[in-house]
Amino acid sequence: MPDPVITAAASQITTCRANGHVPVIRTFFDNPTFTATHVVHDPATRSAAIIDSVMDYDPASGKTDHDLAQEIVDYITAEKLKVEWVLETHVHADHLSAAPWLQERVGGQLGIGDAIMRVQDIFGKLFNAGTRFARDGSQFDRLFHDGARFMLGSLPAIALHVPGHTPADMAYVIGDAAFIGDTLFMPDYGTARADFPGGDARMLYHSIRRLLSLPEETRIFLCHDYMAPGRDEYAWETTVGAERRGNIHVHDGVDENTFVQMRTARDATLSLPNLIMPSVQVNMRGGNLPEPEDNGVSYIKIPVSRS
Ligand SMILES: [Fe+2]
Repeated sequence: MPDPVITAAASQITTCRANGHVPVIRTFFDNPTFTATHVVHDPATRSAAIIDSVMDYDPASGKTDHDLAQEIVDYITAEKLKVEWVLETHVHADHLSAAPWLQERVGGQLGIGDAIMRVQDIFGKLFNAGTRFARDGSQFDRLFHDGARFMLGSLPAIALHVPGHTPADMAYVIGDAAFIGDTLFMPDYGTARADFPGGDARMLYHSIRRLLSLPEETRIFLCHDYMAPGRDEYAWETTVGAERRGNIHVHDGVDENTFVQMRTARDATLSLPNLIMPSVQVNMRGGNLPEPEDNGVSYIKIPVSRS
């Protein structure tokens, strides 16, 4: 049975490519966390979206910094862009979002997938966040459901729910470009892990096959690159066709069970990301630090000896 959301996204991509109605994309790469922040804009209206921003964080001292986010602000100012959206593909576990800091400086509505409530519930319990931590997504301005449409200036956009890495992962198709978060990586590196709380390798396989049923020429932009062996540059842009032909984990012909076995075995060998504790506690709050204690200071919790 055809997937109506994918059919709509595919027709948007084909039409935008045929008309040359395509966004301009500039990527800012954060080396310490291997994260690609994309600033995408409509050249006709200069409306822009910032996707998956990064706030620098030193775990030893707890100090935060906004060097990369400031570069983004400078770029937006120099290019005279109007930020309409600050989007998160998911609650990241490996870096802290700079979304509220950016919103204060350049504006824009903060968006994420509507399954965020499930993620807030899981992590709210894990970190014993208390009743003052709202688990209804209210830290965000817009919660997207699968197939939700929105505009970036004159460019049409559609949100796709692509769970697996987390239950709430989204991809955003803006014009002819798909920003796919943590699903696929570059063909020579494979796919995202699926072993975080609420993650599911089988679900990830289905989300990836959905993305790979978009037109072959679809430009896809990744959330991370870890520079596979044999390469000497980071890369974050590929196409559906290149992934279908060459993704080492999930090229055409790899069936669900083979993928799930491979993904599960590989995940068992991975250690947790260095910044998982602060990242999750900040990102589940829309990039805001936990509520300050009575001395005015925010603290990050670490559950000790938890099995
Ligand atoms: Fe992630």
